[in-house]
Amino acid sequence: MNFPSVDYSWLGNGTVIAMIAIVHVIISHGVAIGTSVLTVSLEHRAFKTNNQKLDGLAKNIAKWILIITTTVGAMTGVGIWFSTTVIQPDSIGSLLRIFFWAWVTEWVCFITEVILLIIYYYTWDRWQDPEKKRKHIYIGVGLSIVSWLTMAIITGVLAAKLTPGKWIETFSFWNAFFNPTYLPSLGFRMFLAILLAIVLVSLFIRLFVKDLSLREESFKVFGFWGAISLPMTFVLGLWYLWSIPDQAYNMIVLATGMTESTFKIINGLALLILLVFSVWLIRSPKKVPIILSIAVFGASIGFIGEFEVVREYIRKPFIIYDYMYANGLLAQDREKMNEEGFLANATWAKEKEITEENKVEAGREVFVGQCIACHTIDGWRTKRALGKRLAGWDEEALKNYIPTMHTVRVAMPPFMGTEEELDALAAYLKSEIDRVNNEKEVSQNE
Ligand code: HEC
Repeated sequence: MNFPSVDYSWLGNGTVIAMIAIVHVIISHGVAIGTSVLTVSLEHRAFKTNNQKLDGLAKNIAKWILIITTTVGAMTGVGIWFSTTVIQPDSIGSLLRIFFWAWVTEWVCFITEVILLIIYYYTWDRWQDPEKKRKHIYIGVGLSIVSWLTMAIITGVLAAKLTPGKWIETFSFWNAFFNPTYLPSLGFRMFLAILLAIVLVSLFIRLFVKDLSLREESFKVFGFWGAISLPMTFVLGLWYLWSIPDQAYNMIVLATGMTESTFKIINGLALLILLVFSVWLIRSPKKVPIILSIAVFGASIGFIGEFEVVREYIRKPFIIYDYMYANGLLAQDREKMNEEGFLANATWAKEKEITEENKVEAGREVFVGQCIACHTIDGWRTKRALGKRLAGWDEEALKNYIPTMHTVRVAMPPFMGTEEELDALAAYLKSEIDRVNNEKEVSQNE
């Protein structure tokens, strides 16, 4: 609590970030990067085979890249910034200290990307003669490279949160950026982006392009990229999994909320659908069944959601591994907090001294500072909504549980604070448990 805090008390703070981030990942990977690669490839093939219709289709796709990237893509990109800054200011503060110039560079790349995209689309019709067409294709290639660069930069930041590596000791930018999962996660994301684009664009082509030969031509290009990207995604994904910490690896299934067998069946099935789809795309591009296109579309969106949720969850209890906990507290401050008190060290806490009168309110501040990163009192995620989940717990049980919570559930950071703060937190939780469960009883009796 070195900053004021916001509390999305029903959705949960994590869910707010997740919703924006998942949409952004689908667009930044699938549309901005993946679809740019596919579009230039289509344009190139149209040029080589002198196919006007294919050229027109590529232009139409470029228009949608332009529209989507500069609206939903940009809004969710900024949205991630605003939501994480407001919800996780301590973590963003730390990351800014390390990655300031990386972010500046990424911003320059994004602006370049948008400018190239505008040039690419608006010169399409004017630059049709062979000399100019070549130049036009180079712009498309440049666009793909710059879009990829934004990913290459941001992946350094994201990967460092899970595996900061030597940075923990050296505090060097380069150690943080080229951290142990940087290359595998960048490679994985790169080919995943192309696969996602194939799935997204082919569904729209399947739905809206009636000309069978045009459909066939474009699916041939997609088949080529699919044949490269599918095995690459798989191999790089394994490398990625192999590079993450053991504790994180062991949390993957838990993170999805599924049982081990459901997890295997669902993911196996999704992979199978993708495989069948890819083979179909290559073997008989004219006759891809619409149901298969829709199934693979759903499976891919589901996978991206799962990937984001898992990637965020397995980092727990940390937000920057071995350094900062998910609630913004530094691992190294534990003793200090236990001695001096959490509230005394929390800039924005109003209650510094705990008395009988302010006990519940002080407990609320401890809860806000240490628990709402993952919990609500009464929200939609019933497992995380402590009001209902803890029905029947009394203050004594809470006081016994909280100091050991990080050993019982390893996703949780240790509680930090004095004996009085523990009492206050327990008193606050107890009052909320009673409130929530009484409300429930009242409404049941009505
Ligand atoms: C980094 C995320 C995170 C933070 C921060 C966090 N928790 Fe948790 N907590 C969890 C998870 C995950 C579970 C398990 C939910 C489940 O069963 O799926 C959990 C479960 C619990 C449970 C239920 C225990 C049980 O065994 O049934 C209690 C009580 C609890 N947390 C209290 C707290 C309190 C109090 C704080 C703040 C001092 C806190 N948690 C902070 C993630 C967190």
